[in-house]
Amino acid sequence: MCGIVGYIGHREAYPLIIKGLKRLEYRGYDSAGVVLYDGTDLKLSKTKGKVSDLEERAVKEISLNGSIGIGHTRWATHGVPNDVNSHPHLSNSGNLVIVHNGIIENYEPLKKELIKRGYVFKSDTDTEVLINLIEDVQKKDNLKLGKAVQVALNQVVGAYAICVFDKQKPDEIVVARLGSPLAIGLGKDEFFIASDASPFIEYTSNAIYLEDEEMAIVRLNKPMKVRKIKDDSLVDPYVQELQMNLEQIEKGGYDHFMMKEIYEQPNVIRDTYRGRLHANEGIVRMAGVEDNIEKFTNAQRILIIACGTSWHAGLVAEYIFEEFARIPVEVEYASEFRYRNPIISDKDVVIAISQSGETADTLAAIKLAKEKGAFVFGVCNVVGSSISRESHAGAYTHAGPEIGVASTKAFTTQITVLTMIALRLAKIKGTLSNSEYHRYLLELETIPEKVKEALETNEISKQIASVYKDAPNCLYLGRGYNFPVALEGALKLKEISYIHAEGYPAAEMKHGPIALIDEQMPVVVIAPKQGHYDKVVSNIQEIKSRSGKIIAVVTKGDEQVRALADHVIEIPETSDALSPLLTTIPLQLLSYHIAVMRGCNVDQPRNLAKSVTVE
Ligand code: G6P
Repeated sequence: MCGIVGYIGHREAYPLIIKGLKRLEYRGYDSAGVVLYDGTDLKLSKTKGKVSDLEERAVKEISLNGSIGIGHTRWATHGVPNDVNSHPHLSNSGNLVIVHNGIIENYEPLKKELIKRGYVFKSDTDTEVLINLIEDVQKKDNLKLGKAVQVALNQVVGAYAICVFDKQKPDEIVVARLGSPLAIGLGKDEFFIASDASPFIEYTSNAIYLEDEEMAIVRLNKPMKVRKIKDDSLVDPYVQELQMNLEQIEKGGYDHFMMKEIYEQPNVIRDTYRGRLHANEGIVRMAGVEDNIEKFTNAQRILIIACGTSWHAGLVAEYIFEEFARIPVEVEYASEFRYRNPIISDKDVVIAISQSGETADTLAAIKLAKEKGAFVFGVCNVVGSSISRESHAGAYTHAGPEIGVASTKAFTTQITVLTMIALRLAKIKGTLSNSEYHRYLLELETIPEKVKEALETNEISKQIASVYKDAPNCLYLGRGYNFPVALEGALKLKEISYIHAEGYPAAEMKHGPIALIDEQMPVVVIAPKQGHYDKVVSNIQEIKSRSGKIIAVVTKGDEQVRALADHVIEIPETSDALSPLLTTIPLQLLSYHIAVMRGCNVDQPRNLAKSVTVE
């Protein structure tokens, strides 16, 4: 979490840093700050609140000139979000300044030691400890900044992406990474530093992504050097050509990124299967799968590891893999998996699902799985992300940048990738009949058009939202493939509208949640025709007889549920296994509209961050 931006070159740094921080606000938005060197001194402005608050404050507080600067948008870990705890942080001498994304776990003993040595601290942050540690090291041995950063980082336990500079030497920025992402954009006589490439895509399409335990010194008019923090060895960095474009990271006429991303789903699902799915020829192929096909076909078990919405996509995949490929699947929260003593062997295939590819728990879990001998396959959206690099192989979802904190298109594209893998394995293992296999391939190809049709439920979703926007609670029920969709629907509602919502397998309602049902309780029931339709209809009747308000997501033309429900949302017909790709759409729209009507910040819900790089 937290976004960092740095610039050194010939442009004015301030507007570039502010614009970059806005693009990184998905990473955290509790507080923001910027520091510039204007040729005479450091100009620092920081504040609790969003980058727009920083802009208001900075213009009154500091001169905005300077062509070297660093900025930060924060998701608080150590210390409440207030002005003092905001980054950048200065060292005691006032010469060194830092922005940091991550956690210094051993900051307490380091802080105690520094206090003994006369250092004083203004904030409660671990970051202020780090910058003073760097200063202490620098002073003790009269080291250059780069060396001092390196020595200090070797004393640190935790995770970091940092930018540091010294006002006495304002022609270089030192950057380093362990566990938190850091990209360096390479311009002509200028460098851009950021947590991802979005802040600088209009300036350069060449970037280096630092690997863990690497640091770099970016200097004006000098070639950049990348080194290993531990042993000081020089690294030859790989310069990546960026695929992102500006349009992808702007709202494109929508009020919110979330809505734009919901509406992108027909196209991005198509992008996900493009070149991989050839339904008419009966082919589905992904290089990462083909290159490791025996690992998959010999797998005694597939273990899916993920967090949040990605975990829900994993649950859908569990049903799909077991049905199509007859391989046993377990789905685990990465945060639980890593802290027990899981039984894993080299016969297991671990699939790590992550939109950002940076989620700390998922990353740690796959490292553990690798240590235990498992083959790790990553399903990530962000190209070049840590999880994609740490995995033995993988498949990208190609959903394009997802900026709204509530995940939408990542979910449906993850399911698309996982469905394709399951179909490929089913073909090889003969676990689906030829006709079933072909039917699914053809059906998957029609999904983008059907998602488009499902998006036509926007108006009805909005009307329903206006009825229930003030509800304090909401239940989501689904069975089989649509049980994870119920979980995802509830998560969408709670994270952006702050309405308490729970998802349940419809039949489990009888074991507790039914006690909550009265005439005030909206219950969203996912009841497409395929699957366990009759059973779900019985569950709807149970809710109705207790006066619950029923919002049913049904297959077009379903009159039976229409007669029972208070509201119906009709989606196109598809097979049971592919139905989550459609049933999830109206649930995304419903949460979106409720959140907007409640005046919530849809793209940046309170307390959340898009990329959770702390455990
Ligand atoms: C955060 C985000 C969620 C996301 C989860 C996992 O909580 O707010 O939208 O599902 O992290 O993130 P990942 O990038 O690993 O999919």
